Amino acid sequence: MGFFQYCVVRSLLQMPRKLRGSAVGGECLEPASTPARSRRHFSSSAAFRIQERTLIAVKPDGVQRRLVGDIIKRFEQRGFKLVGMKMLQAPEGVLADHYHDLRQKSFYPALIRYMSSGPLVAMVWEGYNVVGTSRAMVGETNSAEAKPGTIRGDFSIHMSRNVIHASDSVEVAQKEISLWFCSSELVDWDSNFYQV
Ligand code: TYD
Repeated sequence: MGFFQYCVVRSLLQMPRKLRGSAVGGECLEPASTPARSRRHFSSSAAFRIQERTLIAVKPDGVQRRLVGDIIKRFEQRGFKLVGMKMLQAPEGVLADHYHDLRQKSFYPALIRYMSSGPLVAMVWEGYNVVGTSRAMVGETNSAEAKPGTIRGDFSIHMSRNVIHASDSVEVAQKEISLWFCSSELVDWDSNFYQV
């Protein structure tokens, strides 16, 4: 590495994380900035449709139980479009940002330990009403109350190992996507076969 590149890399590493972009790994130059509800697609059935994006994560228990494929399949079957995916060991700083609102709860330390206990698979899914529909597909936070047919209702019995995360509002989705992904990790692509 030349001296110039060394200086650039060093100054980037010294920047506050919020300025550098996505917290995950800290290597992104810009956060994922695509607003969750701003992408417009033209389709023959309606002039302009607003598309949403949401963050879905298969938690460490889901990865260890080999549920990643089953979970992806449900989102694909429903008709949503995968636009970003990565497997990673979540840095504690990212988890702290992600679960910032829960930091005073008694279960918070156990939650962070669980979420750090192994790799997870983070994904961004896109489609009409994807935030609300994916919450319905995921089911209740408390797995014991999650209905059969939902992901938690089919794959989990206890809230402390509830397999999957899904953003709970469009605004939260936007924040979570830019926390976990940078723009360059998200792929804009059009489907010629299925468009809603
Ligand atoms: P929360 O954001 O309230 O639920 P959700 O994941 O459905 O959006 O809580 C985050 C995670 O914290 C939840 O998935 C499991 C864990 N949790 C507990 O372990 N105990 C609890 O009492 C609650 C409410 C959550």
